[in-house]
Amino acid sequence: MRVGIVGSGLRGQMYGQALSRVSDVEVAGMCDLSDRARASAAERFVGPVLSSHQELYALGLDAVVIATPDFAHLTPALDAANAGLHLMIEKPLATTSAEAQQIVDAVNTNVVSCLVAFENRWNPHFLKVRALIDSGELGDIVSVSAVLSNTYFVPESMLSWSAKSSPGWFLMPHTLDLAMWLADSAPASATARGHKGILAARGIDTWDSVDALVELESGAVVNLRSSWILPTSSPHIVDFRLEVIGTKGSARIDMSDQGLHTSTDRFASHWALSAQVDGIGQGMAEWMVQSWARHLVAGDPVGPGAEHGAVITKTIEDIHNALD
Ligand SMILES: NC(=O)c1ccc[n+]([C@@H]2O[C@H](COP(=O)([O-])OP(=O)(O)OC[C@H]3O[C@@H](n4cnc5c(N)ncnc54)[C@H](O)[C@@H]3O)[C@@H](O)[C@H]2O)c1
Repeated sequence: MRVGIVGSGLRGQMYGQALSRVSDVEVAGMCDLSDRARASAAERFVGPVLSSHQELYALGLDAVVIATPDFAHLTPALDAANAGLHLMIEKPLATTSAEAQQIVDAVNTNVVSCLVAFENRWNPHFLKVRALIDSGELGDIVSVSAVLSNTYFVPESMLSWSAKSSPGWFLMPHTLDLAMWLADSAPASATARGHKGILAARGIDTWDSVDALVELESGAVVNLRSSWILPTSSPHIVDFRLEVIGTKGSARIDMSDQGLHTSTDRFASHWALSAQVDGIGQGMAEWMVQSWARHLVAGDPVGPGAEHGAVITKTIEDIHNALD
């Protein structure tokens, strides 16, 4: 199976490396609009690194990974579906519900498969909670609360396009997906409050922090917080915690604390789940893309798919509309 990667930034390069170890899969090429990203990818990747997705698709592919910025998934996704290529698309599927629906329609019309990269479904911590819920141990889910936030590093130094995204678009799709998956239900309504001004004063005109309250069709209440203004002195650039409360029990996950701490000039915690084994990064994103490729090779279905991604996009859009 020949896979192409659109966007050779942080995620595209990581996916390329992870796919290089999957049997019967060849990373046929990558592309990026930026000279710098192409040069960086060319240092690590032996295949062609092209300057447009059209040139990449002309190589003759079976599937593509779309790892462009949040707001730039639409055109490469539509062109891929129309060329009959299977898709893995980074979250959020799109940043407007109209664009998300166009991708859903293109996937359905062309009868291609699509996985939206909600990587936490490949995270052993959350898989364990899902299994506890399946066993009935927690009872019916009545409440999910989650924090997924970043320090200033992410909007100021990691993402060149943060002003065109927000903590709501970049982070909250993950926690909303987890809440829907764990409670096995879809959003019925969403409201939100947020804060703006701190990042704007630092030249990035987007929300500092978003708090959302989502009611699911099951009646479960979901409380989500995503912020981009945690101090850089925080132990890690990501703060990620989730609690699920059921009628018989509860579960609490702290992904920020993976049990590895260092004290040097400051205290820090580290993500053990991003260690390398045999030179290949490990962790949920790598396991997700490898699982996706193996499923495609075997002809098995993949998911969560474009329809689910569109529901998440619509809800995150509702959350932003409630902020304005
Ligand atoms: N799951 C996670 O934890 C996680 C983490 C980071 C990023 N992401 C998601 O992955 C996606 C990419 O993020 P990133 O951090 O790799 O960003 P990045 O800026 O490092 O890389 C994106 C690359 O896409 C390129 N690009 C833009 N438009 C393009 C186009 N039309 N064709 C080809 N290349 C194009 C840019 O030049 C850039 O090099 C985003 O949707 C983001 O939300 C997910």
